[in-house]
Amino acid sequence: MTDSTFHHGEAATAQAPIVEMRNIEKHFGNIIALAGVSFDVRPGECHCLLGDNGAGKSTFIKTMSGVHKPTKGEILFEGTPMKFDTPRDAMEAGIATVFQDLAMIPLMSVARNFFMGREPTKGRGLFKRFDVDRANEITMTEMRKMGINLRGPDQAVGTLSGGERQTVAIARAVHFGAKVLILDEPTSALGVRQTSNVLATIDKVRNQGIGVVFISHNVRHALAVGDRFTVLNRGKTLGTATRGEISPEELQDLMAGGQEMAQLEGSLGGTV
Ligand SMILES: Nc1ncnc2c1ncn2[C@@H]1O[C@H](COP(=O)(O)OP(=O)(O)O)[C@@H](O)[C@H]1O
Ligand SMILES: [Mg+2]
Repeated sequence: MTDSTFHHGEAATAQAPIVEMRNIEKHFGNIIALAGVSFDVRPGECHCLLGDNGAGKSTFIKTMSGVHKPTKGEILFEGTPMKFDTPRDAMEAGIATVFQDLAMIPLMSVARNFFMGREPTKGRGLFKRFDVDRANEITMTEMRKMGINLRGPDQAVGTLSGGERQTVAIARAVHFGAKVLILDEPTSALGVRQTSNVLATIDKVRNQGIGVVFISHNVRHALAVGDRFTVLNRGKTLGTATRGEISPEELQDLMAGGQEMAQLEGSLGGTV
């Protein structure tokens, strides 16, 4: 896949962040998973969070999505300090997360998984019931928008490919009004073709003005869609670079542990 496949959100960095995380620390007993990480995401951009296994990526986005409370640091949502007590609080504010282990029920239909308790209803009072036809129609439409033509809304989620399942979760978040979409390693278990489909989906989401946080440990996947790149290493950020400021080799080196930090400081304009 070439860089020209995607349009990048050139204007994204000029806008105010939707979510801004300032000096976030997270300790689990003696373990310091995050030692002061700052990161923000703006409308219509894809901000990649890179780092090796154990770097703190999942802990960081769990803090952003209300699963963990930070030990220290501040979270601003649309410029206002926020405390998310539960993932539901974050979700209601418009922060949607697609976790690594997708919470889906393989034997259930795509439509049931799409709504998961948020089905549209028809009728009132005693006559209120799920509007199955409407739910089916919405599911088919939203999936088609993401480039997936289901055989039918009854198709079991278990019959979809890994990439298509990611797309169900992404389409669901978009349909329910996400302002920020956090994707934790959506491409790590996928083959080349499916990876390219998921990256194309990320691009569609970004083009709707949603801010995407894309977690990966694959530099190539990140470079294919990212507008900005932040590298985590053992709970610390090694800096944020903007597309065009950093080469694939430099990004790879940063991920490898920042041995070439001194050299890079120059080429990143001191943002490391
Ligand atoms: N609930 C937890 N309790 C204790 N340690 C944790 C917990 N969650 C993560 N950690 C530790 O925090 C560090 C970062 O983990 P994680 O955020 O999962 O990294 P990544 O997603 O980058 O692979 C690891 O050392 C991990 O063992
Ligand atoms: Mg992880």
